[in-house]
Amino acid sequence: MKIFCLLFVIAATAGTVFFYGCARSNEPTLTLNKKPDGKTLVVYYSQSANQNTKIVAEWILQQTGGDFFEIEMLTPYPDSYNAVLEASKQHNEAGILPEIRPFNKDISDYDLIFIGSPIWYGTYAPPVGTFLASADWTDKTLVPFCTHGGGGSGKFYSDLAAACPGAKLLDGLAVRGSNVVERMLRRSTAHKESPDIVVEWLNQIIR
Ligand SMILES: Cc1cc2nc3c(=O)[nH]c(=O)nc-3n(C[C@H](O)[C@H](O)[C@H](O)COP(=O)(O)O)c2cc1C
Repeated sequence: MKIFCLLFVIAATAGTVFFYGCARSNEPTLTLNKKPDGKTLVVYYSQSANQNTKIVAEWILQQTGGDFFEIEMLTPYPDSYNAVLEASKQHNEAGILPEIRPFNKDISDYDLIFIGSPIWYGTYAPPVGTFLASADWTDKTLVPFCTHGGGGSGKFYSDLAAACPGAKLLDGLAVRGSNVVERMLRRSTAHKESPDIVVEWLNQIIR
C-alpha cells in the first residue's frame, strides 16, 4: 500500500511539473533570421478582455526589441460588447477620432514601426486612427498587424496607406483572435497560433 501511495505521489508530481512546464511555454520554436536594422517601435491598440492584439504585439516585441506603446483612450469604450459596437460604429460613421494618451516620443526617430489593431467594422479601430493622425509618416516604414473575428484584415492595409501618405508599407500579419486566446489558455490543439507565426512572418519581411 505504501509503495502504491509513493508511486501515486511521484506520478502526480511529475504530471504537475509536466503540465506547468507546457503551460508556461510560450516561446517560439523558430529562429529569427535577422533583427531589423535601426530603431523599432511596436504600437498597438487592444480592447477586448482577451487582449488578442496585445498578445501578438508582445510576440513581435519579443523578436524585434525596441520601444513599445499601447494606444489608450482618455475615455475608454465601455466594457459591454454591444456598447463598444455601438460607440465605435458612431465614431467610424462620423469620422470621430477619440482622444488618446499622447505618444511623447518622436516618430521621426524610428526606422521601422509596427502598427497593430483589432479589426473593427472591417478596418482599424478609431483610436488607432487618432494615433495615425498625430504624426508625419513621410518616408517611414510601417508594418500592420491585426487580430480579427474571422473576417481577416478587411480594408486595414489600404486604409492605413491612405491615412499615412508618403509611408512605405510592408506586408501585414492578420491573426484570428480566438486562435491567439486558445493558445494562451491551452484549450485547443486544433486551432492555436504560437509566436512562431510571428517569426515566420518577420523572416519574410525583414531581409
Ligand atoms: C466593435 C467591434 C467590431 C468588430 N468588427 C469586426 C470585423 O469587422 N471583422 C472581424 O473579423 N472581427 C471583428 N471584430 C472582432 C475583433 O476584431 C476580434 O475579437 C479581435 O481579436 C479583438 O482584439 P483585442 O482583443 O485586441 O481587442 C469586432 C469586434 C468589435 C468589438
